[in-house]
Amino acid sequence: MNPKLSSDTPESRLRVEFNSWATSGRGEEMAAHHLPIVLPMLERMQPGPRERWLDLGCGSGWLMRMLAERYPQAEFTGVDISDAMIERARQAAGDRRNLRFLAGSAGRIPAQAQAFTRVVSVESAYYWPDPARAAREIRRVLAARGEAWVLINYYDDNPFVSLWRRHLPVEVHRLSARQWENLFAEAGFTHVRTERIPDPSPTPEVYNGRWFRDAEELKKFKAMGALLIVGAAH
Ligand SMILES: C[S@@+](CC[C@H](N)C(=O)[O-])C[C@H]1O[C@@H](n2cnc3c(N)ncnc32)[C@H](O)[C@@H]1O
Repeated sequence: MNPKLSSDTPESRLRVEFNSWATSGRGEEMAAHHLPIVLPMLERMQPGPRERWLDLGCGSGWLMRMLAERYPQAEFTGVDISDAMIERARQAAGDRRNLRFLAGSAGRIPAQAQAFTRVVSVESAYYWPDPARAAREIRRVLAARGEAWVLINYYDDNPFVSLWRRHLPVEVHRLSARQWENLFAEAGFTHVRTERIPDPSPTPEVYNGRWFRDAEELKKFKAMGALLIVGAAH
């Protein structure tokens, strides 16, 4: 069968999975979960008032909406493989003129070369079926002197995510910080660096979820922090 017509490709599986997250409201829930690691990232970025932003794997679009309020002269684009997420993001955006949302994948970003000055991505990169190809795509759509800021909680150096794989019904990549750095360097980025961003939010005394063994493990996971990968288009 022509793979383009097949409904069983890694990308179509991602679309089905995250469409179901969208319809059950998980897109909106993620804003509260991710904000404690996103705020320190934004502090480090020090963006100008007129950047052209892309959020790759934007989910419900909360981050682009938040920044569109903060920087009314900038332009914001969110791209996600889940058309249901994009639909919700569009509805929540209302008629804001500096904000748009497009269905598309990290492997083929629906934008012209050098379209953006800042590419951000939050908790999405470990799902990308071909991370090296996605890194090349991000590099392609970045303007000269632009920067990519990619944040992920699932990475190899963090031992406290060992239960995640069994609960994720789609394929994920658990790369190390060094592997992400190499991948970005090979995609043509300069000044590539990684850093860990701890989650300072309070942890409940008791944890009954399925992603961590107990509250103690969750606390250690948050202290270890998310992996931030930064690369420049210089
Ligand atoms: C855990 S959610 C995070 C969403 C959002 N960044 C947030 O912080 O709320 C991961 C998102 O990445 C998207 N995604 C996964 N693989 C993708 C790909 N290959 N291309 C584009 N988006 C993808 C999913 O559809 C989902 O919305």
